[in-house]
Amino acid sequence: MNIHKFVMPEVIFGNGAIEHAGESCLRLGATNVFIVSDPGVIEAGWLDVVIRSCKQANLQYTVFSDVTMNPKDVEVEKGCKAYIENECDAIIGIGGGSPLDVAKAVAILVTNGGKIHDYEGVNKIRKPLPPQVMIPTTAGSGSEVSQFSVIVDTLGQKKMTIISKSLIPDIAIIDPETLSTKNAHLTASTGLDVLTHGIEAYVSLAATPLTDVQAKNAISLVSEYLRPSVASKINKEAKTKMAMASLQAGLAFSNAILGAVHAMSHAVGGKYPVLHGDINSILLPHVMEYNLLANPKKFADIAAFLGVDIRGLSHMEAGRKAIECIKQLTMEIDAPQRLSDIGLEKDEIPHMSLVALDDACMITNPRDVTAEDIEEIFRRAW
Ligand SMILES: [Fe+2]
Repeated sequence: MNIHKFVMPEVIFGNGAIEHAGESCLRLGATNVFIVSDPGVIEAGWLDVVIRSCKQANLQYTVFSDVTMNPKDVEVEKGCKAYIENECDAIIGIGGGSPLDVAKAVAILVTNGGKIHDYEGVNKIRKPLPPQVMIPTTAGSGSEVSQFSVIVDTLGQKKMTIISKSLIPDIAIIDPETLSTKNAHLTASTGLDVLTHGIEAYVSLAATPLTDVQAKNAISLVSEYLRPSVASKINKEAKTKMAMASLQAGLAFSNAILGAVHAMSHAVGGKYPVLHGDINSILLPHVMEYNLLANPKKFADIAAFLGVDIRGLSHMEAGRKAIECIKQLTMEIDAPQRLSDIGLEKDEIPHMSLVALDDACMITNPRDVTAEDIEEIFRRAW
């Protein structure tokens, strides 16, 4: 019998949950909290809510918001310095995947030392991290529940994937109301990232019955609620369902890991300032076409989760319907369709293929890949 392992943080989910930030830190023994955020989250007013909650819990705090899209090693180093200078003893990350991944990377360096590059790959962290409370404001990266942090190596121009059980936050606070301040493009892009997490986790070589149930729910929820969530900032039901989809996809991929879409997307995102979800949604149908052969039954399942009537179809036929269904969804919510649409240079393909082949997410892709295979997928997505 195979041994299954499933890890996750304490989860506080629901409208108004963000007000539990200070009390959550207090329960973890914090006295002086390092809060990682970004300018967009501050402008939307969510940082103020967290600060008020920390004050109510009599906590001292320091805010660090020098975080950009596709966060970088230099930002992590700056954050680490600020944490130590201010003698903090716990970390809150609030925002999209970028502030959350920087918060986790700062947590690594403040107790383990060295450079963030030292921790690229699987299980390189040796010493315990400070208490971490993560509050996502997108649906989303899943970073609030995952054992991942993805940081750009600015000299190497690539994303480093860091995977370790130590990166699973102590508490994830998920408040669907925070999704109401995101525009349609960001909602579409982050929602398609959620879909990619669900699909890659479901067909991953490391999938288990425990991750499959999370992935299945996430895929179905995105299929039903991403369109209304893109269409309206104030559709509370759609926001709540997308927050749950993001959480469940995060739990699935944190434990089952990902695949070629994320490995290739990390190669692109390390070099081009493009939204992670935009790159994923362009690559997803092409990688699914490539991977279909590896597990037709699971791709047929995905078609059913997406609401496709698969009666009378072979698994291969049903799997192809799933791919069509996803292309249709991406068109309806105005997601970019081709890598050329987001400004990528074609002559970068051979180099990016080699970088993608080396990414930790490629280990669990269901079909074997060579650099030439990746080049071909990139070309089809151009
Ligand atoms: Fe992702």
